[in-house]
Amino acid sequence: MFIRQRWYVAALAAELTDRPMERTILGEHVAMYRNHAGAVVALRDTCPHRGYPLSRGRVVGERLVCGYHGFTFDATGTCVAVPGQDRIPSRLHVRTYPLIERGAWVFIWMGAGEPDLARLPDAPWLEPSDERAVIAGVAAIEANFGLLVDNLLDLSHETFLHAGSIGTPEVAETPIEVEVDEAARRVEVYRHMTGVVCPPFYANTTGLEGPVDRWQDIEYRPPGFYQLNSRLAPTGRPPLSDGSDDHAFHMKIFYGLTPATERTVWDFWALSRDFAVEDRTVDDFLAKMQAAVVQEDVDALTVLQARLDEGYEATEVSIKIDRGGLAARRILDEMTREELATSS
Ligand code: FES
Ligand SMILES: [Fe+2]
Repeated sequence: MFIRQRWYVAALAAELTDRPMERTILGEHVAMYRNHAGAVVALRDTCPHRGYPLSRGRVVGERLVCGYHGFTFDATGTCVAVPGQDRIPSRLHVRTYPLIERGAWVFIWMGAGEPDLARLPDAPWLEPSDERAVIAGVAAIEANFGLLVDNLLDLSHETFLHAGSIGTPEVAETPIEVEVDEAARRVEVYRHMTGVVCPPFYANTTGLEGPVDRWQDIEYRPPGFYQLNSRLAPTGRPPLSDGSDDHAFHMKIFYGLTPATERTVWDFWALSRDFAVEDRTVDDFLAKMQAAVVQEDVDALTVLQARLDEGYEATEVSIKIDRGGLAARRILDEMTREELATSS
């Protein structure tokens, strides 16, 4: 069962063009495109005439024409033209899903009723500006949503799974602080490393040499939104007492966790930085590094899922580093129970 009454990332903004695409989200086939007015549209990927995927159609102006018999739908899902007859049966309507574009990402509401805008994650850093450069990507993982939550809430795995890019011994060695806001449904995990080696991911992009202070502050807003606030500075130079921190380098590493099916998940990512903003070689370097990091996670989670598929009984022994992940599971369980209660 999926938690539906929440926003999820559906696509990268750059993916949506006037060539419709299909993506499976929460077990449903969704067709998405950008019409010629620039608006993004999502509809159920099934033509109400004979069920052909609407994602195989084409965009004409602000409308989508089915690729099978040419029935035409507007952005509200209403059929507005049928070849060869004037009368359009009112049942020729296709469900649409609200989409909201926020910088690099497009969020979707798969829930019932009106979308709850108060639940849309507030993330100004997703939007590129004069002060921020943003790059983004997405990976499909053959693993269930919960495995990705576990992975992201415990970054001690960087030391082992991502050695050579972002992982250094100190990540796993440094204790974490965990804060859980049950009412706001938010999990925060802090790891502040002092006087440590700057890993290549940051050394090659910031120019920092010598020991650094490296902070990893996670904010997870279940189910689908995750933000890692990364701060790097020469060691011994914390933010100033007035809160300014211009001598440090900041990167927000976003993940959008979107279940595709019960055993597959979309892993959207975006990196937003406040340094080397104009430097496209830094974009390219980070995109390459991040794609490799994500692939390492994809490989690990795929293996875990394969073991689960074999019916392997996972025994879990949790330790201190698992506190963030355990809190996340608790909140996800609560959200699931809440939806079950309201839907029954
Ligand atoms: S299936 Fe779409 S028009 Fe026939
Ligand atoms: Fe990872």
